[in-house]
Amino acid sequence: VSFRAPKGTDDILPPDSDRWRDLFRVWDDLAERFGYGLVLTPLFESTEVFARSVGESTEVVQKQMYTFEDKGGRSLTLRPEQTASVVRAYLEGGRQGVLKGAYSGPMFRYERPQAGRRRQFYQLGVEYIGEPAPEADAEVVELGHRFLLEAGVPDLDVLLNSIGDAACRPAYRATLVAYLEERRDELCDDCRARMELNPLRVLDCKVDGPRLADAPAAIDHLCGACAAHLDRVKRVLDLAGIGYRVDPRLVRGLDYYTRTVFEYVPRTYEAAQNAVGGGGRYDGLAELLGGPPTPGVGLALGLDRILLAAGEPKGRAPLDLFVVVAGPERFDAALGLVGDLRRRGLRVDVDLGGRSVKAQFKVADRRGAAAAVVIGDEWEDDKVTVKDLRTGEERRIAADDLANWRHA
Ligand code: HAM
Repeated sequence: VSFRAPKGTDDILPPDSDRWRDLFRVWDDLAERFGYGLVLTPLFESTEVFARSVGESTEVVQKQMYTFEDKGGRSLTLRPEQTASVVRAYLEGGRQGVLKGAYSGPMFRYERPQAGRRRQFYQLGVEYIGEPAPEADAEVVELGHRFLLEAGVPDLDVLLNSIGDAACRPAYRATLVAYLEERRDELCDDCRARMELNPLRVLDCKVDGPRLADAPAAIDHLCGACAAHLDRVKRVLDLAGIGYRVDPRLVRGLDYYTRTVFEYVPRTYEAAQNAVGGGGRYDGLAELLGGPPTPGVGLALGLDRILLAAGEPKGRAPLDLFVVVAGPERFDAALGLVGDLRRRGLRVDVDLGGRSVKAQFKVADRRGAAAAVVIGDEWEDDKVTVKDLRTGEERRIAADDLANWRHA
């Protein structure tokens, strides 16, 4: 072939995409059950939206953005994440009060591709905007946890931390910078620059982070309000029966967070990129984007990574029925039946290529149909033959009863 998908991107086709579709459905359903409406925002934004919110000191903004100039000379960037876009939309729409929004779709980051680290990847996320209560943080953590269980990700660690707010972070930051200054010579070049922009990022550095095990932790420097907020988040998670581990080293890769931060890490997943999702509170984000003070908390799950970590799917057949036409004279009747069954809500398909019965059965198998329906001479008596393609069992039934047919 002359053309290939760009490096770090994937074509996801049936039957592999069956699993994706299932998980998008599980997500939509779950978000709706938790009271989140659908939010759609552009795949690209003014570059400034991400630079300001995600933060100039982050790897995402410094190295990973797909930034381009459009024909009108504007600097635009393919979204590396959607939180900034949702908050931008909330402010632009003149919203006030609570907005609970859910989204799913592709995000773009220029990363070194490997399994579970893609340049185009898919997130499922929610943003709970306008609510400062710690119960909102707990709700978001619970929603992500619930999804990962339903997706079949076993043995999950929920890591939780608080990184303080505008009241306590400056003093903590000064303490951390003093600690880092003493070790300036041991730090990598990136971290010496990060120290000025955002010293918390140093703790997240793959090179230096592990060597700074005794660095002061934000969670030990929280003001009273932040400490009480964290205690309440923990309490509500306890009440919901969600196990978590407080990890004082958890800082996350985006700059907009205040107070709660969290990540989901499957214990069985060995790849270098190990969080299948994460999120946190961002009470200062709206102001970074020029809006009034507006609290918020949210989460995003990485679908590519979840599919690597998840166990074998439950295996719902992609089609309920595949209609097999025994002879060309039955073709019109078969088309009518297919239309009728589809209208009644069954997932039905038929071969349109005039192939032999044997070949049609092969197609039915390949397409993963639960059963084949043969339209043959018995059609004259309004009957069809149904063959269960897993057990091989055959039955002759009234055509009218097909609509109620479901694979056990
Ligand atoms: P994030 O931690 O940057 O957070 O991304 C969330 C998840 O997206 C990660 O845990 C990971 O599973 C997945 N992910 C990130 N980058 C890649 C990649 N290159 N390839 C595959 N998967 C990837 C956020 O994006 C925040 N917007 C989350 C949030 C929402 N915070 C508050 N609200």
